[in-house]
Amino acid sequence: MEERITNTNLNSEECNNEYTLRPQNIDEFCGQTNAKDNLSIYIKAAKLRNEPLDHVLFYGPPGLGKTTLAGIIANELGVEIKITSGPAIERAGDLAAILTNLNDNDVLFIDEIHRLNRAVEEVLYSAMEDYALDIIIGKGPSARSLRIDIAKFTLIGATTRAGSLSAPLRDRFGIISKFELYNKEELAEILERSAKVLKLNADIESIKELALRSRGTPRIANRLLKRVRDFSEVKSNGKLDMDITGQTLKALQVDELGLEKLDREILLTIIKGFNGGPVGIETIASAIGEERVTLEDVNEPFLIQAGLLYRTQKGRMASKKAYKHLGLETLFKEEE
Ligand SMILES: Nc1ncnc2c1ncn2[C@@H]1O[C@H](COP(=O)(O)OP(=O)(O)OP(=O)(O)O)[C@@H](O)[C@H]1O
Ligand SMILES: [Mg+2]
Repeated sequence: MEERITNTNLNSEECNNEYTLRPQNIDEFCGQTNAKDNLSIYIKAAKLRNEPLDHVLFYGPPGLGKTTLAGIIANELGVEIKITSGPAIERAGDLAAILTNLNDNDVLFIDEIHRLNRAVEEVLYSAMEDYALDIIIGKGPSARSLRIDIAKFTLIGATTRAGSLSAPLRDRFGIISKFELYNKEELAEILERSAKVLKLNADIESIKELALRSRGTPRIANRLLKRVRDFSEVKSNGKLDMDITGQTLKALQVDELGLEKLDREILLTIIKGFNGGPVGIETIASAIGEERVTLEDVNEPFLIQAGLLYRTQKGRMASKKAYKHLGLETLFKEEE
C-alpha cells in the first residue's frame, strides 16, 4: 500500500529523526501559546515548592506536539520521564510495577490514555489522588487489602479524544490543555528550525509554501520537508527552491490547500454520493472503506478548520468552498 504523507502515525524513519527534530526545551516549542505560557508558570511554581506538578491532560489531533511537550515538561522540571501508552499496560500489575519504580516528582507519560482498560484505570485513581496503591492479597474470605505508598509523581496523559475518557479519570487531572492546529506562521517557524537541524539550504518561499500545505500539523510539515529534501538531493544537487517544492508536492498529490487523496475522497463522497450532505460519519467511512476514528481524528479537524466541511445535527455537510475547491461549483445548491 502506498504510504500516505499525511498519515500522522510515527514511521521508523521518523523515529530516528524524531529525537533531533523534537524541541527539547520550552523556548524551542513554537505555538500552543496559551497552553505553553500557563504550563511555564505551573512548572516554575512546582519547582519553587519542590512539589510534583499537578497531573496534566493533553488532548487534540495527532502530530501537534503532545508527546514533545510532555518531554519538555520533564526536562524543564529536571526530572525523569517514563513513557508508556494505554494499550501497552495490560494488567493492573503492569501499572503497579511502573508506579513503584518512579521517584518523587518524576513524570509518567501515558499516550492514548483513553485506551486504558478498566482494571488498570482503577489503580490509577488512588495513585493520582493519594499517591498510593491498593493491593488485594489472597482470595476469598481471607483476602485483605494493603495500601502502599508510591512516589509523588506527575501523570501526563495524552489523547486524541478527550470525550472517550471516563469522567472519574478526567476529573483527576488538575491541568487540562487542548492542542489547536497551528497557523502558517508557526508552521513556517517550525519548518525553519527543522531545516536548520537537517542542514537544508531552503529558501523562504519554499518554507512558506510547505507551511501552507501541512494541514496545521507539525508532524506533516516535517515529513513534507524530508520528502522535499529527497527530491532536491536527487534532482537539483540539494538546492531547495519553489521549483523542487512544487514538483514534490505534485508527486505526493498534496493540493494547494494541503489536502491529500483521502481528504478529497471524503469531500467527493459527500458531494457526489450524498448531494453535499448531511450524511453520517459512519456512512461516509463505509463508503470510502476507512475507519470512522481515522476520519474523525485525523481528517475532520483540518477540513472543518479550513471551512470545507461542517458538522450539523443530521451529519456532515460539504461547504460551498469545498465544491469550489474540487471544481464542482455547478453541483452546488444554495439552501432555501
Ligand atoms: N510546537 C512544536 N514545535 C516544533 N516542533 C514540533 C512542535 N510540535 C510538534 N513538533 C514536531 O512534530 C512531531 C510530532 O509531534 P508529537 O509526536 O509530539 O505529536 P503528538 O501530538 O504526540 O502526536 P500523536 O497524537 O500522534 O502522539 C515532533 O517530532 C516534533 O518534531
Ligand atoms: Mg504522541
